Amino acid sequence: MIKIAILISGRGSNMVSLVNAVERKNLDCQVACVIANKKSAGLALAKENNIPTKLINQFDYENKFDHELALILELESHNPDWILLAGYMAILSSNFVEKFAGKIINIHPSLLPKFKGLNTHSRVLKAGNKTHGTTVHVVTNELDDGPIIAQSEIRILANDTVETLEYRILQEEHILYPLILESLVKEYLEIKLDKVTWHSVPPFLDSEIKNRNISIKPYLFIKNHN
Ligand code: GRF
Repeated sequence: MIKIAILISGRGSNMVSLVNAVERKNLDCQVACVIANKKSAGLALAKENNIPTKLINQFDYENKFDHELALILELESHNPDWILLAGYMAILSSNFVEKFAGKIINIHPSLLPKFKGLNTHSRVLKAGNKTHGTTVHVVTNELDDGPIIAQSEIRILANDTVETLEYRILQEEHILYPLILESLVKEYLEIKLDKVTWHSVPPFLDSEIKNRNISIKPYLFIKNHN
């Protein structure tokens, strides 16, 4: 059975969407732990789902190295196959990333490589872009720069605000991230270090392909222009 660890910093809605997918789809996958680097509402939600949780508060440590060391030790005690970042608001050091090379996945609220970093919704509006989206990618040493696994794109509407975009992008994320986890668990998707390979289109993506116009070349791309 595949074991995953999920790292969060806040409300944890993406974490919940992953946990729900594991349960509802009866995936051969165990959410071994949910770890937060600060007090996070999401920890209580994970507990409600009977998932082991741990707060490793970054403010309790003298420096980033010590904090990450505690995080590494906790993760190693669970021996996860994958570490899924779900709103984990801390930049991981190269020491950490190399320790779990090719095993860390992130979801970022923009169509990478556009709009790396924070405040993507306001920046995309300010730039006057016509589209926006979310990206699931492998984590490497460069911030928001690892190989892209999949993207989901929406059209920006004339009356969109930061709040509406945040809401609409979250909706996409709650669909996309669990589908990527399912693809990994069912081995349609393979990640070896920084190489992402889609072996074939997973059949459970069929309806999304029809509804959202998906293409998986060069990576899975969902266009939701409805
Ligand atoms: C999401 O938009 C995710 O893309 C970004 O942080 C947000 C986390 O939201 N990395 P939540 O905590 O999962 O609700």
